[in-house]
Amino acid sequence: MFEHVDFFAGDPILSLVEVFKQDQRSEKVNLSIGVYYDENGKLPLLNSVKQAEEHLVSQHIPSAYLPMEGLLEFRKAAQILLFGEDNPLLKENKIQTVQTLGGSGALRVGAEFLHKYFSDSTVYVSDPTWGNHIAIFEAVGFNVEKYPYYDPETGGIKFEALVEFLKKISEKSIVLLHPCCHNPTGVDLTREEWDTILPIIKERNLIAFMDIAYQGLGDGLEEDAYAIRRAAYLGLSFFVSNSYSKNLSLYGERVGALSVVANTEEEAKLVFSQFQFAIRRLYSSPPFHAGHITSIVMNTPQLYEEWTSEVEGMKLRIREMRQKLYDTLSQNIPNKDFSYFTKQRGMFSFTGLTKEQVLRLRDEFAVYLVENGRMCISALNHHNIDYVANAFSKVLE
Ligand code: LMR
Repeated sequence: MFEHVDFFAGDPILSLVEVFKQDQRSEKVNLSIGVYYDENGKLPLLNSVKQAEEHLVSQHIPSAYLPMEGLLEFRKAAQILLFGEDNPLLKENKIQTVQTLGGSGALRVGAEFLHKYFSDSTVYVSDPTWGNHIAIFEAVGFNVEKYPYYDPETGGIKFEALVEFLKKISEKSIVLLHPCCHNPTGVDLTREEWDTILPIIKERNLIAFMDIAYQGLGDGLEEDAYAIRRAAYLGLSFFVSNSYSKNLSLYGERVGALSVVANTEEEAKLVFSQFQFAIRRLYSSPPFHAGHITSIVMNTPQLYEEWTSEVEGMKLRIREMRQKLYDTLSQNIPNKDFSYFTKQRGMFSFTGLTKEQVLRLRDEFAVYLVENGRMCISALNHHNIDYVANAFSKVLE
């Protein structure tokens, strides 16, 4: 019956986690998957989340089905986090949001909707991007192409090429953007660069799809939402997928949201109804527990305040690790410029290491990076950073 089934060889990021688990070497360090670990190398349980969970459990509420679109208080809080409390578009009901199964679920629901109404459009993703962006849009039937982004020569962005590219692609093309903490490079557009490209996206009638999975870990919760708020201000019709996996450290709960910003309240309602349509067909409704915990953190002032300082702490620790890595590598190899480590933002750094060097790190030092040279900075800590920096120095010699 199943002889003809193709074998799925696994996802390049998730498979590495399994290989890492099997590695018996005690000095091993996993810098592959995008997960925030604390100073002791542990996945944190945030205090704000712990209190929200305790509160929820103490109420002994049975787990009812949520509506297709998720919990109302959750959805409102997501809008405030992304668009800002005083955003006039919220009062005008031009933004609609649904609770989803993480950021991946938000991307998939958005992709389903877009393919139903814009199936001839091409989806453009940054070169490079998170591999699952391509997979998710291809899975619903889109043709996915790349737009110029990272420049390996300079470690910056091919900004002029990007601008030219946006000026020439067809109307209604879908452009997937990373508002902050670009995955995999850590190289973000500046505010001035956003101010240049967003009006082009609007004038050219392109459909922006902003995927924000690391809000708070770049420059701060508010600062990281700049591109989203600017696009809303400029009157673009666009989508935002966001994830709470990293900033609430709720990876396994699958908690995220999908928002649409439309020209009118009526259009926003139409798109929202199609999100419900897609959700009903994909998984019916999102998780109760995840929705409630997130909603309690976001809607209880004392927990929200505690959460924002916990996110700030993660951001600062990531920065400290960037600096320490830069210092040690610059000391070990003085003639090489490692300043990109401190310029990049968020969890990831594109190290510029070749595939051969990445494989050497894995084989000889039990240090795991993704094969494209991406490393997860937040898996570094004071116990392993010298070991990692020295291993890097060895393969760079
Ligand atoms: C990553 O890029 O490592 C994370 O977003 C986790 C994942 O699902 O790939």
